[in-house]
Amino acid sequence: MHYLRALMDLLSYVEEHHLYRSKCINLIASENIASPLVRKLLSTDLGHRYAIGFLYTRIYRGCKYIDLIEALTSYLLRSLFKAEHVNYIPISGTLANLIMINALTKPGDSIIALSVMDGGHSSFRECSLVHGVSMIPLPFDHKSYNIDVDGAERLIRRVKPRIVLLGASDILFPHPVKELSHISREEDCIVAYDAAHVLGLIAGGRFQDPLREGADIVTGSTHKTFFGPQGGIILCRRDYSETIDHSAWQLVNNHHINRVAALAAATCEMQAFGEAYADQVVRNAKKLAEALYNEGVNVLCSDIGFTESHQVIIDVGKGRAAGVSNRLEEANIIVNPTPLPWDRYEGEASGIRLGVQEVTRLGMKEDCMESIAKLIADIILERKNPSEVRCYTEPLADNYQKIHFCFNTDDEAYRYFYLEYLVKELKIQI
Ligand SMILES: Cc1ncc(COP(=O)(O)O)c(C=O)c1O
Repeated sequence: MHYLRALMDLLSYVEEHHLYRSKCINLIASENIASPLVRKLLSTDLGHRYAIGFLYTRIYRGCKYIDLIEALTSYLLRSLFKAEHVNYIPISGTLANLIMINALTKPGDSIIALSVMDGGHSSFRECSLVHGVSMIPLPFDHKSYNIDVDGAERLIRRVKPRIVLLGASDILFPHPVKELSHISREEDCIVAYDAAHVLGLIAGGRFQDPLREGADIVTGSTHKTFFGPQGGIILCRRDYSETIDHSAWQLVNNHHINRVAALAAATCEMQAFGEAYADQVVRNAKKLAEALYNEGVNVLCSDIGFTESHQVIIDVGKGRAAGVSNRLEEANIIVNPTPLPWDRYEGEASGIRLGVQEVTRLGMKEDCMESIAKLIADIILERKNPSEVRCYTEPLADNYQKIHFCFNTDDEAYRYFYLEYLVKELKIQI
């Protein structure tokens, strides 16, 4: 019977996780919550199948409906992003970057991109290194919290990298795609933009539009500001399509077709609700930043409007971000520490990054941002006991349990009734 006990433990842990998360306010900037429809598509038979090879010319047989699903997904994504080509094969944003670097560089080449300390993602360097490519950090301007365009121009002209990679993990403002595309073209460099964080805002027309501003290629994750499921994507011009698709199949054998169908549904949700959603996300981020600032929290970029994205970044002092994040977690406010450009190394992080996309999808508006700011300030400035603050977090979270900006809003965001039923059944059996 030990396996039944293990199974019950497992299901109970998952159930407890759901219950716990329903009582939290999640401000992790790289996460979101998927609609009931997207979740249901993830559990279909498609998740048991392979479809190796290109559309309509698969090696494995049995793919006639999979071909139709994927052709539709491709069409939906191309029309949403007005892209000449899309590749939805990568199962994560990191893999999308690796596929792009594998496709467009050869060992010995260089790329330039933001370093982790300046908000870049570790995949910029790691994906380059595994392919024998060096990554040179882009200059960053602390004041505008953005790429230093003059410094970047000098670097591009001197190094002539194969790829100029824009976009970041900590991204408050649109990056200078237009300016740097112009210079990069003169030096024969490819301009790429990692939209992992802002893909949903781009889809909603509420951030920059890198493909229109001159980027040749856009990589990204489909689950941060986009509506999920977890996965990666590459958008590019038609002339890169063959080399990108070839690279994708070199690096991915099994692309999780249930995820592709779920992505197609999420793309329809974006078509229908993306504008209103992205608009509310940016409003909420601005309001959260302003309210935190008014409480006395050190919010970055107060002199330039705090943010134009889903993110707000606060500075809690050298080496303090990990401890403050722990105390916020005890108060059921979930965040992550992040190094800021003036920290000496990652472990000394003084920044905390907040993202409002998930709470926005749960229907929260500006008034809730003021409440959340007060709870955060109670922890950071008032140094209140986290369990005391939790008494206010939980009822606030409890009022926002339905997923918005989707076709079916009946299901509860964090509740799986089937799981509860199974646990009850197992308890009887043991
Ligand atoms: C800019 C950027 N690129 C790539 C990634 C990797 O995405 P994934 O977690 O989907 O692999 C991240 C993750 O947060 C990111 O911030």
